[in-house]
Amino acid sequence: MRAVVYDRYGPPDVLRLDDVERPVPKEDEVLVKIHATTVTRTDCGWRSATPFITRAFIGLLRPRRKILGMEVAGEVAALGTAVTEFAVGDDVFGLKGFGAHAEYVCIRESGPLAHKPAEMTFEQAAAVCDGACIALSCLRSADLREGQRILIYGASGSIGTAAVQLAKHFGADVTAVCNTKNLELVRSLGAAEVVDYLQEDFTKNGKAYDVIFDAVGKHSFRRCRRSLKPGGIYLETDLGFMWHVPILAFVTRRIGDKKVTLGMPKYTKQNVLFLKELIESGAYRAVIDRRYPLEEVVEATGYVETQQKTGNVVLTVNGGRVR
Ligand SMILES: NC(=O)c1ccc[n+]([C@@H]2O[C@H](COP(=O)([O-])OP(=O)(O)OC[C@H]3O[C@@H](n4cnc5c(N)ncnc54)[C@H](OP(=O)(O)O)[C@@H]3O)[C@@H](O)[C@H]2O)c1
Repeated sequence: MRAVVYDRYGPPDVLRLDDVERPVPKEDEVLVKIHATTVTRTDCGWRSATPFITRAFIGLLRPRRKILGMEVAGEVAALGTAVTEFAVGDDVFGLKGFGAHAEYVCIRESGPLAHKPAEMTFEQAAAVCDGACIALSCLRSADLREGQRILIYGASGSIGTAAVQLAKHFGADVTAVCNTKNLELVRSLGAAEVVDYLQEDFTKNGKAYDVIFDAVGKHSFRRCRRSLKPGGIYLETDLGFMWHVPILAFVTRRIGDKKVTLGMPKYTKQNVLFLKELIESGAYRAVIDRRYPLEEVVEATGYVETQQKTGNVVLTVNGGRVR
């Protein structure tokens, strides 16, 4: 099969299309023929080995896994002998840690894989799981409840657009902070209030929140402290400069009444099924910025690395398939 491979860490042009062996499903695995996948910030981190510590997981000198790509939408092409939930020809969507920038990938039946919502295109379905699973894990770690006030900073990114919709679904009063050009979009996702960070500094408007979620790793607990209510939680997706976020999370667990939490994504089947239900009830949609064919993965990756995408960037495989 054709896949995007990389043999060394570096800029986007270390990625190249190559012919590799098609994976064969193990007993408990499903072989998915991929119609659409995405380029995520995590893919970019693995490719460039940033931060350096990632090498401890994926290879000190060179990558052990040659194919990147996490998000998947496609159809079942073959089954392991023990698989009962899926049949050949089923449309599916989900996640795999590595290997989705390819024509085929194997995913465990019990892993983060579910039947694709019928009304969603493959491109839309491919752009659901990563940002939403991270946002979901973050919001759950803050125990976000109905009626609470949450401010989501970086509401136009992959995690941000998911967080706005999920927080609204949990019944929270959502304020979203983004650039002028995305105000209407985040309003349409469910934000009751929007703040244009180019026009207004929310930390100076005197309002206070139960939760402040920096969904894009660009703000700080220090600057947000006064905008948190007593007992408030500052949620972060990034380790921060000099890894100060996990350190602050540790310290604030013991000192002070305002806590810092670093979101750790949970890529589980349960979460993918939860998202599928939300999609089917009309409470969730994937936001797609640009689409590229798999062959243009270098350009797609370069765009993701501008850190200015709105929502998600999709790669279509073999021309994709609509439904
Ligand atoms: N915890 C984890 O496991 C995990 C996993 C993956 C990613 N991450 C981290 O999560 C963060 C977000 O990932 P993502 O994929 O959602 O990001 P993304 O989609 O690349 O975020 C891009 C968005 O952020 C907005 N933005 C850029 N600079 C901003 C600023 N200074 N203030 C407000 N908004 C700004 C951009 O809009 P404008 O430029 O138009 O404002 C754009 O819409 C990243 O820091 C990433 O490293 C964490």
